[in-house]
Amino acid sequence: MPFVITDPCIGTKDSACVDVCPVDCIHPRKDEPEFAQTTMLYIHPDECIDCGACVPACPVAAIYDSPDSTPASQKTLIEANSVYRAGDAGAVAQAEEIVQSHVAAHPDLMAVPPTERAAAHAK
Ligand code: F3S
Ligand code: F3S
Repeated sequence: MPFVITDPCIGTKDSACVDVCPVDCIHPRKDEPEFAQTTMLYIHPDECIDCGACVPACPVAAIYDSPDSTPASQKTLIEANSVYRAGDAGAVAQAEEIVQSHVAAHPDLMAVPPTERAAAHAK
């Protein structure tokens, strides 16, 4: 079961997770052209080896350890993590579309600062 990045990453994109991932499965990296265009980062579900290194690295607790443990309000973003492929313009646009619909559907969460958003997921 892969790890999943959720909405505290929106507006944060800290990238500390990228630096600790041993298999380079989190994208877009800062050195990839899509970094400036995407709203958040994504974990490739087929490449993630479930090592757990990314979770404590994230300063805003955006990463959950499986789709099952991902809170109900964040479930749509599982698909955004899944479809994203660096270098595939169609996949990048599809992931971004999912994120934008999540943003539109959750003004309550978006009104919370990213540092406090994970705590709000449980409410
Ligand atoms: Fe990478 Fe391990 Fe996270 S493989 S995405 S650092 S769980
Ligand atoms: Fe996002 Fe946290 Fe990584 S903010 S880029 S999931 S370190």
